[in-house]
Amino acid sequence: MIGRFLPYLRYLKGRRLALSLALVCGAISGLVYGYGLPKVINEVFPKIFTDDTGQPSPTNLIKSPTPSAANATNALPVSAEEQVASKHRIRAGRTLSAYEIIGYALLIPLIFLIRATSGFLNNYLMSYCGIGVLEALRVELYRKLQHLPLSYFGRNRSGDLLSRLTSDTQVVQQTITSSASDLVIQPITLLGAVYFLAITALKNDGVGLFLASLAVVPLSVFPVRFIGKKLLRRAEENQRLLGDISDLASQNFSAAREVRAFGLEEKEISIFQTTTRHLFRIQLKVVKYSQVLSPSIEVIASLGIAFSLYYAYYAGLTLAVFVSILGALFVCYEPMKKLGGIHGQLTKGAASLNRIEEILHASVTIADPRDPIKVSHLRGELTFNQVNFAYNTGAPVLRDVSVTIPAGTICALVGPSGAGKSTFANLVPRFYDATSGIVTIDGLDTRALKLSDLRRHIAVVAQEPVLFNDTILNNLLIGRADATRAEVEQSARDAFAHDFITELPQGYDTIVGERGALVSGGQRQRLALARAFLRNAPILILDEATSALDSESEAAIQLALKKLVVGKTVLIIAHRFSTIRDATKILVFDQGEIVAAGTHAELHANQPLYRSLYDRQQGA
Ligand SMILES: Nc1ncnc2c1ncn2[C@@H]1O[C@H](COP(=O)(O)OP(=O)(O)O)[C@@H](O)[C@H]1O
Ligand SMILES: [Mg+2]
Repeated sequence: MIGRFLPYLRYLKGRRLALSLALVCGAISGLVYGYGLPKVINEVFPKIFTDDTGQPSPTNLIKSPTPSAANATNALPVSAEEQVASKHRIRAGRTLSAYEIIGYALLIPLIFLIRATSGFLNNYLMSYCGIGVLEALRVELYRKLQHLPLSYFGRNRSGDLLSRLTSDTQVVQQTITSSASDLVIQPITLLGAVYFLAITALKNDGVGLFLASLAVVPLSVFPVRFIGKKLLRRAEENQRLLGDISDLASQNFSAAREVRAFGLEEKEISIFQTTTRHLFRIQLKVVKYSQVLSPSIEVIASLGIAFSLYYAYYAGLTLAVFVSILGALFVCYEPMKKLGGIHGQLTKGAASLNRIEEILHASVTIADPRDPIKVSHLRGELTFNQVNFAYNTGAPVLRDVSVTIPAGTICALVGPSGAGKSTFANLVPRFYDATSGIVTIDGLDTRALKLSDLRRHIAVVAQEPVLFNDTILNNLLIGRADATRAEVEQSARDAFAHDFITELPQGYDTIVGERGALVSGGQRQRLALARAFLRNAPILILDEATSALDSESEAAIQLALKKLVVGKTVLIIAHRFSTIRDATKILVFDQGEIVAAGTHAELHANQPLYRSLYDRQQGA
């Protein structure tokens, strides 16, 4: 189980010193408690208590003919009178000064003080390492999520990913911080106590005692194994349900308007409640399996005390020895119990780690090639060569598409909705990779270029552009970080955005809200256009980029586009034919195939699908 976490020790870089210190402190804490405490009891008790300074009881004399060195001096008296006499003799003969008694008495608090201090340091330093590891893991996870292809986000629900990033990492962090220090202290405590038991047992007639008192250690392995397996499954389900809940909630928040418009409030609540009820049951099971472990180990451990009591009687142990053995057993079973608990915690952590690793180990199918072709400037000639494509669902979306779009042309994509126009455009910046066939820019396979080089040459405006929750200025600067204020304003003018921006109370410093929610859909599109204009890339993809604009603003933007697109390759998907008519080249898509290509005049004359699409809009 611990092995699951070991690979992540590599994140400990720079924390090695803290880890070593933590280990030393843990060892001190464990030894002082495990060995020191029973040892002190063993040494101090005989000096304080006179009643049982080691005389074997009469019954045991026969069985225990060779008293150990420790009690040899006191073990001689046999008769009752002599015992009483010896008591007084010893008391009288004892020369403990008050200081000595205080000194002995203080040994125990001293042990606990050392244990507390080193235990605290061990805990603190281990947490320092553990939390550090988790911070690195979280960033690693986030880094991975930035590089996973879009198809990954199609397959996985965002709420679930979110919960892996937050809740699962939290569970792993708890596991590491709560287990790491115990994993050092407890085994050492155990070893110390076992060592003490072994020594004491040897001094006091036998391995039998030793074995009897520890006989229960192997027994406690059974519940740990049995319960651990059940716990792992429940813990995984628990995290999955938490993912479901965060997913339900994030969907609900993004559909807040629809929920109110269609009166879905109660339905949403009931769906949520079904999931939380399920979670409730699973969480109870997790509690059951993780909490039953310690008590059952405790019960098994108490058997050890019973064994030793039984044995002590026949072995003729003195009370002091027996109490020190009990003390050792007590410090011994504590780690057993704790280690059982840690096993449960590790199991929960492993369940979450599994979910995190699903992301960490996901293959980045769209990545930089091994030896990328270096490009400084692309002209923007696009070719699709026998391209086939399907999304995760497997249904073919593009079928044997072959086309060349010369650099500097405006190419319009038309066709019924769902025909594959957006998909076609998505293959150019490698948002997805073709299932088969090749997409090239300037004759270079797009997969042979560095992704950053490729995407630097492309500006994309999507139908529903997303703005970041930042100022308008910063949202525009995403287009090109080093643009001057004048350039930003010019591209805003070109996109007919400057006027509405300056009318806002904070102008370019206005915060646009989450996903740009504080500006209207049309304004959002204009900002997205301005951002793309600022990028000034040789390839411009406009996917229904003007759909949210009224026809007057669209016409105005058409004019601006005419000026801006000079020398650029433009893929334009638009539902208004006023935009399409002027394109140099028009591709007609139908059910994933390019069924015709040409100019407006040619297609309107010869292509029935194009003509019907065009005429329908003119009529409307
Ligand atoms: N992310 C996606 N995952 C699965 N199927 C998709 C995805 N995006 C689009 N599709 C499907 O691919 C087909 C083409 O979609 P699209 O290229 O968006 O069409 P268009 O832009 O021409 O309206 C449609 O059948 C659509 O359902
Ligand atoms: Mg589309």
